[in-house]
Amino acid sequence: MKIDAILSPAELPALAKRDLRNATCVVFDVLRATSTFVTALHHGAKAIVPVSEIAEALALRQKQPGILLGGERDGVRIRAGQTGGIDFDLGNSPREYTPEKVRGKTIVSTTTNGTRALRACAGAQTVLAASFLNLTATAQFIRQLQPAQIVLVCAGTRENIATEDMLAAGALGELLSYPFEITDAPRAPFGRGEGVRLNDSVETARSAWRKAKSNLFEVVSDTENARRLLAIPELCDDVAFCLRPDVYNLIAALGKDGAMRILI
Ligand code: MLT
Repeated sequence: MKIDAILSPAELPALAKRDLRNATCVVFDVLRATSTFVTALHHGAKAIVPVSEIAEALALRQKQPGILLGGERDGVRIRAGQTGGIDFDLGNSPREYTPEKVRGKTIVSTTTNGTRALRACAGAQTVLAASFLNLTATAQFIRQLQPAQIVLVCAGTRENIATEDMLAAGALGELLSYPFEITDAPRAPFGRGEGVRLNDSVETARSAWRKAKSNLFEVVSDTENARRLLAIPELCDDVAFCLRPDVYNLIAALGKDGAMRILI
């Protein structure tokens, strides 16, 4: 398996033009889009449809009045003033996506970076949404699938690298290289996964992960995204929520119909 990484959203336009037909793209938006999507799926949402623009979400709601609208701009729920009259049902806090609210529902979501990153991968053979919450499950699936090419896609913050996405990508690179769970105590690696080749971007992410993993909350608390969330009383708990490893044993895959579902 050849593994490379897109660490900055500035690289997304080039990714969208690449021939990804034989590639598996794994998208990370730890704070918070992919953490929110896997939480919603774990809590019984039927599907998540990521869209780039508010207008696309509104158009889908017109066609299917039963869907829920979710997402954020500037971190907070999209309100009637931004849509011409319709309040979104949900923001982008994973803690809002409770079983009571989402079970059996299709949710159309538009977020600043996460949905844009997912859409840039549309040409890939397989597109997965990953987070710390479902990291080992995602790694195990990839190990079984053995794709020739894997691209770890970090959604970032506006046009910049987001450290938390790079750390999660590095943790996945580590899991694919040395097969043990991220919750395991550190131990001597017993050899790189057979035939795994990491490029320098993944190596950079992996060495950042190795340095950060013993004090992940402290490291991430100092990032741009976390600082923004930690300053908002109703969203501050999202940071610790999203950094919990391996809470969900699920694979979230984006189908060719543009909807993300649990892969069975
Ligand atoms: C994004 O897609 O940019 C993020 O998930 C932003 C957020 O949730 O605050």
